[in-house]
Amino acid sequence: MSKVILALETSCDDSAVAVMKDGTLASHVVATQLVHKDYGGVVPELAARAHQRYIVPLVDRALREASCQRGEVDAIAVTQGPGLMGSLMVGVSFANGYGFASGIPLLPVHHIKAHLLANLLSHDDLHLPALGIVVSGGHTQLIEVVSSTEMRLLGSSLDDAVGEVIDKSMRLLGGPYPGGAAMEKLAKAGNPRRFPYPMAKTAPFHFSFSGVKTAFLYHLQREEEQCTGFTERNKADLAASIQWTLMNTVVVKVEEAMAKVGHTTLLVGGGVARNGLLRALLKARADEKGWLLLMPLPAFCTDNAAMVGIAGYHLWEAGVRESHVVPMARMAF
Ligand code: KG4
Ligand code: ZN
Repeated sequence: MSKVILALETSCDDSAVAVMKDGTLASHVVATQLVHKDYGGVVPELAARAHQRYIVPLVDRALREASCQRGEVDAIAVTQGPGLMGSLMVGVSFANGYGFASGIPLLPVHHIKAHLLANLLSHDDLHLPALGIVVSGGHTQLIEVVSSTEMRLLGSSLDDAVGEVIDKSMRLLGGPYPGGAAMEKLAKAGNPRRFPYPMAKTAPFHFSFSGVKTAFLYHLQREEEQCTGFTERNKADLAASIQWTLMNTVVVKVEEAMAKVGHTTLLVGGGVARNGLLRALLKARADEKGWLLLMPLPAFCTDNAAMVGIAGYHLWEAGVRESHVVPMARMAF
């Protein structure tokens, strides 16, 4: 009999469910919440309500696509944190109820660890110990990965996350929310060297992106004052230049951190890891330095439940069995 884990992800604005059978992904579904588009960012209360509407149909669909009955589930992996409290509560409450009613254990998953473990969905081995970098809408963090369950935070952004700056910059350029995919598309037609933006100098393992975010805003305001329509006329060069600065800042900090920790494996994760420029820059650096570079498949970079499922499977293998999970908006490693 195969071991079936039902996995739930509701930490932010993507409602996602996956089914793992013996550590192999059997199905995964995501409902991206469109309700936030008009606001240019996630509205926590609306996110929680949308999770509530989506969760039951998503669970039914994921089980159906995996050819599983509800009674065949052996454990439920659920994102415990970090994330938005209202959103986390929907997934965690559903998991607590399902677990109690079915008499099956829960596997509490750390969202950031899961982003790095997404690499196990396309690679058999993580070649640990490794340095991990998570670049997402809410986090930019460097992590020492000792095992699939043991990780240590080395440093993080002191202010904005990379994804946050991408989304805000794209909003200034009149783009959609979230802005990552649109920025990447727009930047393809632009000159990345046209507008040099500052790269913050920070202590090892730490990042700062609020300076570049403000520099971008002030640049647009200054130019618009002198010549209305500047932003619209130059948006491809603007997108290419800000993208170039953000991705190169990440790569410089990763290179510095790799030298400090002395590991030769680099694990990447998070929504911004979908970015083609970041992937190409990291690949070039890895080839030059002889690092082993693991990046998740694009679909498993942005929030998804497959990564929660694989993280849950490793918790199960480590002997974790919980009867109740408490959501944590902030969660230590
Ligand atoms: O990991 P994720 O789905 O959610 C969080 O945990 O925050 O990351 C979402 C972030 C957003 O800021 C989005 O704009 C960014 O990932 N993103 C991208 C791309 N696709 C998504 N950033 C750059 N290039 C992309 N292709
Ligand atoms: Zn995430």
